[in-house]
Amino acid sequence: MSLGTPWPAGAVRHEDGEVSFAGVRASALAAEHGTPAYVLDEADLRARARRYREAFEEAFAAIGTGVDVYYAGKAFLSVAVARWVTAEGLRVDTATGGELAVALRAGVPGASIGLHGNNKSDDEIRAALDAGVGRIIVDSLVEIERVARLAGAAGVVAPVMVRVTTGVHAGGHEYISTAHEDQKFGLSLAGEDSPALQALRAVTSHPELRLLGIHSHIGSQILDPAGFAAAADKVLGLRASFAAESGTLVDEVDLGGGFGIAYLPGEVELDPAVVARVQAEAVAAACERLGTAVPRVSIEPGRAVVGPTTATLYTVGTVKPVRLEDGRVRTYVSVDGGMSDNLRPALYGAAYHAELASRRSDAEPVLARVVGKHCESGDIVVHEVQLPGDVRAGDLLAVAATGAYGRSMASNYNLVPRPPVVAVSDGASRVLVRRESVEDLLALDLG
Ligand code: LLP
Repeated sequence: MSLGTPWPAGAVRHEDGEVSFAGVRASALAAEHGTPAYVLDEADLRARARRYREAFEEAFAAIGTGVDVYYAGKAFLSVAVARWVTAEGLRVDTATGGELAVALRAGVPGASIGLHGNNKSDDEIRAALDAGVGRIIVDSLVEIERVARLAGAAGVVAPVMVRVTTGVHAGGHEYISTAHEDQKFGLSLAGEDSPALQALRAVTSHPELRLLGIHSHIGSQILDPAGFAAAADKVLGLRASFAAESGTLVDEVDLGGGFGIAYLPGEVELDPAVVARVQAEAVAAACERLGTAVPRVSIEPGRAVVGPTTATLYTVGTVKPVRLEDGRVRTYVSVDGGMSDNLRPALYGAAYHAELASRRSDAEPVLARVVGKHCESGDIVVHEVQLPGDVRAGDLLAVAATGAYGRSMASNYNLVPRPPVVAVSDGASRVLVRRESVEDLLALDLG
């Protein structure tokens, strides 16, 4: 029986109660690769990448323009993943020199890569220029001068987008509109002579820079498409204002990522077809109102492409019933990983779902909290979940929807080596990123 949301598409629970991922049983994965391990369903990832591209292409074709989908590598990037998304017709958005290096190692053409960052180093900018990246998204007025200087030194013209903050902020919570945003990213478009307008002027004043367009990213894990429409409207307003003063109507707008997914059973992810239509309609309506031509559009989904494709497989260790103040008992189920492989519950209070993956149990469910092995009481993997009352050491536990910002935000806290990322496909598994070893950790320590 297919496990359904929030599990990877190929997750199935068999007659005997064991779970398999794309045809590979949890026990076989644990035996071959050890635990904890991130198990990534390749076909699911590729289908999601494709679905995003097709939905957006269709919606934007309907308003007479094209769209480019950049996979946001910060969610999780490896050489294989960069190749898969490229094969599915996506480009790659990188946020650092490290992500850029992985995309290049994968053979992603420089022209299909974007480089972000609010504090790019000169080395990162030089690496991007060397690779001939298709776009550098500039984030401040000082950075415009730096990119121009480095492009001049390299004898190239840098393609640039200007990242703006629209005042529309969304994600997790309902979107709210504010005049100014108290955060580090982008250039505000608020006010008469906004920093965003100044940045557009600055870019066009440099012969070493070519202004491609305007970029906006409003937040992450957004489930209501309305915020995207509000942001698109503001970006297109800025584009028209700049055209009115300069005569330059930029060709492209990037509306960023942030498309929300399901983490728990019963949750519903943002439908790419719906959000694509909402964005396309907002773009068309704004351009009509402003009397400007419709631009080419790009988007940058990360979480929505990789998040649901992956489950983390853990082995259960200590199980401890703890009596709560209200008299209830909470069963603390310790697993062999924790906040070092999934920081999101500790950092954001993020909710996850776990199930027993290695066997059937008919025991009455109990209120459980899945915790890690770190020396910290906030080391929680799943705050609250019903698990069979006979859950015990040696059981395999799977946690769903850990593909985005799991491995990519993993740490070596308590000098715990980071788990491998294992791809499953058609009944076979292969390691994309190997498990770290204690030798890896010792190799960094020069004594
Ligand atoms: N584009 C830009 C410019 C971004 O800053 C981000 C995410 C994305 C695209 C991709 O957003 P996505 O589609 O994955 O939501 N660590 C946090 C999420 C941080 C997102 C940062 N920027 C988390 O685990 O929820």
